[in-house]
Amino acid sequence: MKPTQYSEKVKEHFKNPKNVGEIENPDGEGTVGNPLCGDMMKMTIKVSKDGRLEDIKFKTYGCGSAIATSSIITEMAKGLTLEEALKITRKDVADELEGLPPIKMHCSNLAADALHAAIKDYLSRKERG
Ligand code: FES
Repeated sequence: MKPTQYSEKVKEHFKNPKNVGEIENPDGEGTVGNPLCGDMMKMTIKVSKDGRLEDIKFKTYGCGSAIATSSIITEMAKGLTLEEALKITRKDVADELEGLPPIKMHCSNLAADALHAAIKDYLSRKERG
């Protein structure tokens, strides 16, 4: 892939992102920033009684790749158990989007990191009762 070339899937998720917004009274939330560019992302999650991700929404103050990766990770992770969702890597997100231009690979960090942060927030809330 050329340094500036985007896959059709990236363009599709950028133009028509899924699960944008914020869940009211979420079970967990995670906000992360990308130190390389200053972009930010917030993920909110709802967890079902059997420990699956029932709903996920994101807000991204970032570039097109960050929006596309956030959108696709919400689709990848919905319905998964928390353990499964924690295993989604930045590379999985980029692969699912049929690749990202090399200079944009760092943008996929935000989506995976924000989702993992939201899950960890849920787990620590649960521990605290
Ligand atoms: Fe900041 Fe893509 S340039 S996340």
